Amino acid sequence: MILLKNSIELQKWITKQQIKGAKIGFVPTMGALHNGHISLIINSKSQNLLTICSIFVNPTQFNDPSDFEKYPQTIETDILSLEKAGTDLLFLPNLDQIYPTGTAHQPVYALGNLENLLEGRYRPGHFQGVCQVVSRLLDIVQPNKLFLGQKDFQQCMVIQKLLELKQSLTELVICPTLREASGLAMSSRNMRLSVEGRQKAALIYQVLSNIQSKLVSSSPIEQLIQEGKSILLNAGFEKIDYLELVSVQSLEHNPNWEPSIPSVLIIAVYLEGIRLIDNLPL
Ligand code: PAF
Repeated sequence: MILLKNSIELQKWITKQQIKGAKIGFVPTMGALHNGHISLIINSKSQNLLTICSIFVNPTQFNDPSDFEKYPQTIETDILSLEKAGTDLLFLPNLDQIYPTGTAHQPVYALGNLENLLEGRYRPGHFQGVCQVVSRLLDIVQPNKLFLGQKDFQQCMVIQKLLELKQSLTELVICPTLREASGLAMSSRNMRLSVEGRQKAALIYQVLSNIQSKLVSSSPIEQLIQEGKSILLNAGFEKIDYLELVSVQSLEHNPNWEPSIPSVLIIAVYLEGIRLIDNLPL
């Protein structure tokens, strides 16, 4: 695996490969890699794409500075896992490579209601930061395909919107959420949970699955949502930012479940001070 830290060198390398006919698959990450990330690499490789992964913990997407400081960093094991998965190149830029003119005057993207709902509501500015870094990475890498995990459901929608705003030819490939045997969605943040916390966090997916199994066409789902919230709070989850049934197209709240309207159950909760998200498309 080639490791580059400089964006100009990376662009030169990519141009050489494109001249030889290579198509590029790109997996942007913030490191602390788990099997969910590795499944994105494997998906890209299986499509015969020259596969580039980036690791960059982007400060502009953290609305909470302590969350940024505590973000897990496991670069040595990340490099080993990426090599094992057959990654062709790891891009490991520093702040100056991504934001050569600083972070203060970055573009603002017209994301519409997407950035006011759910994550947008609880993490103001987060999606602007995600767009700033992904836009810059796309400009550098110019991939044919961009691979993201469905665990970050709203982020996938935001980045699809970004691709439209940029009139980009890059195709977004959304890959299924990988789960632990317990059902807990794989996430870099899980590393910060205690052993007991990790066991307890499995309740998130159990609550989503339980609501799904009890859904009856046209019936109001508020009671099921309230029951789900009580189960989590009684188990020791500290806070629930949201647990909602929303439309897959608009992310707007659906008070009743209609099987004909594609919907997703979506959740953000705090356990041991760590914010965890998950979703279950219906
Ligand atoms: O999902 C992530 O890890 C990040 O939000 C991303 C897409 C790498 C941008 O920093």
